[in-house]
Amino acid sequence: TILIIDFGSQVTQLIARRVREEGVYSEIVPFQHAAEAFERMKPVGVILSGSPASVLDENAPLPPPSVFDSGVPVLGICYGEQAMSHMLGGKVEAGHDREFGRAAVTVARPSALYDGTWEVGGEYPVWMSHGDRVTAIPPGFEVIATSPGAPFAMIADETRHYYAMQFHPEVVHTPHGAALIRNFVRRISGATGDWGMKAYREESIRRIREQVGSEKVICGLSGGVDSSVAAVLIHEAIGDQLTCVFVDHGLLRLGEAEKVVTLFRDAYNIPLVHVDASELFLGALEGVTDPEVKRKTIGKLFIDVFEDEAKKIGGAAFLAQGTLYPDVIESVSFTGGPSVTIKSHHNVGGLPERMNMKLVEPLRELFKDEVRELGRELGLPEVFVGRHPFPGPGLAIRCPGEITREKLDILRLADEIYLEEIRRGGLYDDIWQAFAVILPVKTVGVMGDYRTYDYVVGLRAVTSVDGMTADFYPFDMAFLGRVATRIVNEVKGVNRVVYDVTSKPPGTIEWE
Ligand code: XMP
Repeated sequence: TILIIDFGSQVTQLIARRVREEGVYSEIVPFQHAAEAFERMKPVGVILSGSPASVLDENAPLPPPSVFDSGVPVLGICYGEQAMSHMLGGKVEAGHDREFGRAAVTVARPSALYDGTWEVGGEYPVWMSHGDRVTAIPPGFEVIATSPGAPFAMIADETRHYYAMQFHPEVVHTPHGAALIRNFVRRISGATGDWGMKAYREESIRRIREQVGSEKVICGLSGGVDSSVAAVLIHEAIGDQLTCVFVDHGLLRLGEAEKVVTLFRDAYNIPLVHVDASELFLGALEGVTDPEVKRKTIGKLFIDVFEDEAKKIGGAAFLAQGTLYPDVIESVSFTGGPSVTIKSHHNVGGLPERMNMKLVEPLRELFKDEVRELGRELGLPEVFVGRHPFPGPGLAIRCPGEITREKLDILRLADEIYLEEIRRGGLYDDIWQAFAVILPVKTVGVMGDYRTYDYVVGLRAVTSVDGMTADFYPFDMAFLGRVATRIVNEVKGVNRVVYDVTSKPPGTIEWE
């Protein structure tokens, strides 16, 4: 077992994920509970996460000293390096050269951390994100790599098995970061295991039973992979204590409702209530143009509908959701924390305080591809597991400006044509997510001998590993031309099609 002590970094879960990829079980524990967790878990290695805090602050969060008294290998990442240096007799100062983004380190000495990966004298790309930096290393340590902005970019005490780095090895932008973590976990800490989604499934089932007891659970199904996997997992844990509710908010894609109902009611035999609430949602969204207001309105109504349904089934104490880790991190601001709210994801941030059901979120620690794997483990059909993500607020956030039934109808048709062409071209599985948006502007065109004045449809397609960063998909122009022609010809009310070539960041995947 590896203990990951969390100091509030945006990317702590990525550390856990890298450890999971090694087949090794880990737990993330907030620093306040680290001493107790260290006792309980008896980990073979400890990783200290990054943090928005500064060790120079009064009350700076620090790992418990017991970690360093135990002889267990420790890896400090970013703030973790500073905390380690601070506690073991080194020095940390506020940096004049703050380093954010791509940087390169030069390897100064051999280290067990580099086995099979980096060599002395080599220069390697890494992802930095820090203000403070270490200016004097603790006794017993040596510098094992440097960078222009951080002379102590990597330090190690090979005898005591303490390693620390100023950059983030857990993010994909540090290309060999996973290998460094692997060396720490496998070789230096000696962790073993074949922990995977099979173990996750068993562990989740146990946790769900423990959390829920004999209470009833209601689960919002959106038709997406996440809520489906959550529902099947929870059903496996508690059987018919679970009722699924599929809310048609009038913001679904073409034919979506039928697909979901068929799969769950017929194929899985999971109790499913299909609520047609489109009047309610579209009524409340009338005249709303602000994206956050849209999200919050939808989130609130979802809860209203769930609460109603919960009453109907004789009181459900729990609401289950397929919230994933990236939803959590982008919606939540930690206490004293790093992360500003980017968007209020409806399954996290939009929950009104008054909601009187407790949450069951068995996928909260996972990334999309892990959820897909869990879905396969649970026997969900491949076409379902491989589906592109679809957001809870649905087409509302693909219709910037005012939402009208007319625009939604146009959008549904355009989206259907676009996806049909993508499937036909065999591109669906290469793309993380593809969808159409309808813009709140009309432009002039000419069709036949007539002037037209119609809506613009935007096409979006991105590749991504986890939805947190993304690149636009490089379709060939002939493909885009074909889609544009079909949409303009077949969808009344559209006379122009554009393709979005923005990556994330700076864009987000959805337009709102
Ligand atoms: P963004 O647009 O923030 O989206 O780059 C990242 C991923 O999250 C999906 N998304 C949502 N999923 N509820 C969800 O369940 C939401 O409110 C929501 N907003 C965005 C988005 O489709 C993409 O896959």
